Amino acid sequence: KVEKWWGFVDLYEYDGFWYRNDWLEGAIAAKSNLQAQDNDVLLSSQPKSGTTWLKALMVSIMGSHAAQTFNNINDAKDQYDLLEENFPHDLIPSLESLWHWEIFSNPLRASENPIQCPTLKGQPRLHQTHVPYSMLSESVKNSGCKIVYITRDPKDVLVSLWHFLNAAKKPEVPPYSMEDAFDSFRKGVHASGPFHDHVLGYWKESLARPDKILFLRYEDMKMNPRGEVTKLASFLGRPFINDDEADRIISRCSLERLKNMQVNKEGCTFNGMPRSSFFRRGVVGDWKNLFTPEMKERLDEITRKKFQGSGLDIYYP
Ligand code: A3P
Repeated sequence: KVEKWWGFVDLYEYDGFWYRNDWLEGAIAAKSNLQAQDNDVLLSSQPKSGTTWLKALMVSIMGSHAAQTFNNINDAKDQYDLLEENFPHDLIPSLESLWHWEIFSNPLRASENPIQCPTLKGQPRLHQTHVPYSMLSESVKNSGCKIVYITRDPKDVLVSLWHFLNAAKKPEVPPYSMEDAFDSFRKGVHASGPFHDHVLGYWKESLARPDKILFLRYEDMKMNPRGEVTKLASFLGRPFINDDEADRIISRCSLERLKNMQVNKEGCTFNGMPRSSFFRRGVVGDWKNLFTPEMKERLDEITRKKFQGSGLDIYYP
């Protein structure tokens, strides 16, 4: 089944979820071929839930830990300062994109080997994905590979997505109205949608296997960054030595800092999205500027129904 999304993107339904064509090809290839290693870490999310922030944090946590164990100051600096010169999405590659690229450039290698990605020297491989839990390869599910999932109030996810796609579209494509965007979102027709099924897949697994999956919420990270980032570092096996280390990493990864860095201000991702469009307001409750009271009620009602009985409450501060 194919649906036109945002007036210009074809979305394909596969096993209950919606994908762009290139992501779907990459996701299928990764599902059948990726050989996860026991110390791999996979970051998973729905688009616009805080992926970029989490990438920056994960790289900084790994780098900070590595810096403490290095004797050679140049090596330590090299690892610790990765954010200064790199767009966070270039540091932790997307599985879908890697495998999509691999199918066309080197099909043999794709079928035989795990892909090495350009993360920190001597550190676990860090990958990122937007696929639902059910689309992960068996080796990701059954190896020691850890998963960090981040989610966010779906109302803010939709508003963030709306700004992102309208900013990235070509001038000849007419703007997409919030009403149309809302309609697709509530039906679950958006890249990696339906939103709630995606969240529930990881949530249930995180309850069953808390050592395997860390489930984070954007709102908790905004409210209690030190607590949440400390939890993340411990989960990654890189516990902080003190609160100062946590605070240093939080400020290194702040939206204000990343947004103003030259490397994040200019240029585009390989698929044409301006890097700057990944850094916007970063607040909780931005939906209030675009939602009508009816839209809020409708989406909250869907969330309540979907999450009912799952233990995942609908508190969004
Ligand atoms: P807004 O559009 O609400 O501002 P993703 O990285 O999953 O695409 O999510 C993008 C959202 O995360 C955007 O939200 C963006 O501003 C916000 N974001 C990006 N970097 C951030 C950071 N360092 N801290 C907090 N939020 C950040």
